[in-house]
Amino acid sequence: MKTLLTREQLHDGVAKMAQQIEAAFEGRQLTIIGVLTGSVVLVADLIRHIDQPMRVGVIQASSYRGATTTRGDLIINSELMLDIKDRDVLLVDDIFDTGHTLEKVVEKLKDFKPASVRSAVLLRKLGRQETDYRPDFTAFEIPDEFVVGYGLDYEDMYRNLPYLAALESEDIDRHNAAQQG
Ligand code: IMP
Ligand code: MG
Repeated sequence: MKTLLTREQLHDGVAKMAQQIEAAFEGRQLTIIGVLTGSVVLVADLIRHIDQPMRVGVIQASSYRGATTTRGDLIINSELMLDIKDRDVLLVDDIFDTGHTLEKVVEKLKDFKPASVRSAVLLRKLGRQETDYRPDFTAFEIPDEFVVGYGLDYEDMYRNLPYLAALESEDIDRHNAAQQG
């Protein structure tokens, strides 16, 4: 695996994005909604950098996806979500790739009549976007490579890596061999 962002770089980028979020929501109570599962590490770190009153909840979005870029049907489950009516919501996700996931989740949140919905992502993959929607806050822009770690997975593995790494073809071969064993 090739390290793209070290633990220190991730820490600094998340702290900087937290400052931008604090400035944008100054004096208002925030409701942070993390998109499961990829955002769990980011949410845990981000909220501890934001020194203002907030509520924290989750929503689940899942679509079938491997290392390839094929997009499956998106399933959004809001059953576990906090009440967001009349709240200022910050939706948090791991990565903005084609943009379809975040755009659809933002649309879904609007059904619950929040006062406002903004979004923050750890990563934006350059040159991949297929929608006009853009996240309001982005910690890092990365090249078009499949990445894992800091919450991001390949077949539900590698989320626990404390750094961000690009998966190379020999990593995928090794992964497949380990899963069969
Ligand atoms: P989008 O709908 O194409 O923007 O895809 C967003 C979702 O795809 C993210 O929430 C991730 O779950 C997944 N995804 C996209 N690129 C990567 C990647 O490089 N590594 C891991 N997951 C990814
Ligand atoms: Mg995800």
